[in-house]
Amino acid sequence: MVGGVEEHLTVGRVAGLAGVSVRTLHHYDEIGLVRPSARTPGGYRAYAAGDVERLREVLAYRRLGFGLREISDLVDDPATDTIAHLHRLRGLLLEQRDRAAATLAAIDKELEARAMGIRTTPEEQLKVFGAQLYEAIGSAYPATRRTEPRIAAQVWDALGDAQTVLNVGAGTGSYEPSHRDVTAVEPSAVMRAQRPAGAARCVAASAESLPFKDQSFDAAMAFSTIHHWQDPIAGLREMQRVARRVVVFTHDASDAGWRHRFWLTRDYLPEVSELVTGRPPVDQLARAIGARLEPVLIPWDCADGFLEAHWRRPEAYLEEHVRRAVSVWTRVGPQAEKRAVAGLREDLSSGRWAERNRDLTDLDTAELGLRLLVA
Ligand SMILES: C[S@@+](CC[C@H](N)C(=O)[O-])C[C@H]1O[C@@H](n2cnc3c(N)ncnc32)[C@H](O)[C@@H]1O
Repeated sequence: MVGGVEEHLTVGRVAGLAGVSVRTLHHYDEIGLVRPSARTPGGYRAYAAGDVERLREVLAYRRLGFGLREISDLVDDPATDTIAHLHRLRGLLLEQRDRAAATLAAIDKELEARAMGIRTTPEEQLKVFGAQLYEAIGSAYPATRRTEPRIAAQVWDALGDAQTVLNVGAGTGSYEPSHRDVTAVEPSAVMRAQRPAGAARCVAASAESLPFKDQSFDAAMAFSTIHHWQDPIAGLREMQRVARRVVVFTHDASDAGWRHRFWLTRDYLPEVSELVTGRPPVDQLARAIGARLEPVLIPWDCADGFLEAHWRRPEAYLEEHVRRAVSVWTRVGPQAEKRAVAGLREDLSSGRWAERNRDLTDLDTAELGLRLLVA
């Protein structure tokens, strides 16, 4: 007990309890990360309950691999209270736990296979890193992924008169409306680092566990991201908890129709069907949050290079940088990608593609299963 009514712990006691060295605590004090609010009569650092709470957050973020500078931004964020930090930490830890469990299961499977003399394929070896996909492929993203103004107009219209907007799975910030107060959420450090200077502030968190109080925002939006979430329904419900309106741009995974309508998935990349197996159908997602569904048409000269964007410009798919900015091409694996590109190249030069897809040349927009959920 050091002066006053509040209980304080000495630096040595805090170090012992937290399992860190006294030197580490001195360092955190020196750089302003965790400043003990009092001194003992003998001049030693003394930590109040609030200081300990802050230290606990710092150590938890540290354990998750965040750097000290990033942690300082996180814990000094005035919009985030202790409960919000605990929610965020919980989400990040669950993600880490699931990733560790998946890696462990894959290692066990490979050990078992090797014991029987079977070698796993390179695709199988890499599959388990799917959850960290954007850490691996994120740097190729900005080459072709940007806001398509006609689709943005539809999204912003659905946001109504919302002034405060949360953008979940925000990536590099495409589709974030200007003239509104935007907060972004993005779990991938690679994606966060590529947000342009002056972009909205971005919080490291996942959709399934948003570090905000109930009804903190007028609206929450998510663009081209829910197919990456571990639990899309939980994420959508989180969006609905923190915001009064929810606007989501996604794919109708249940509708095999679009995969047949779209020549790329129908004739060259049928493996895409496997990627969507098990994903909740879009009407189930809509029902979970009471949303209405609006089709989103893709203009023939779509500025945002998502998978279907080049439906009338097939040569684009021959370009490596176009493919690398779309996760599907990595997820189907190198063999399928090579085969699809070779097939398309051949059909373009023989005229077979043009013959098969003659009807597309007259269209200005295509309906390929993209949907807006508005709740
Ligand atoms: C295709 S990018 C879309 C980015 C951005 N919304 C855009 O339209 O350019 C998908 C993003 O979702 C993020 N993501 C993956 N899992 C997530 C999760 N559980 N919660 C929130 N975002 C997630 C990825 O890190 C990636 O930045």
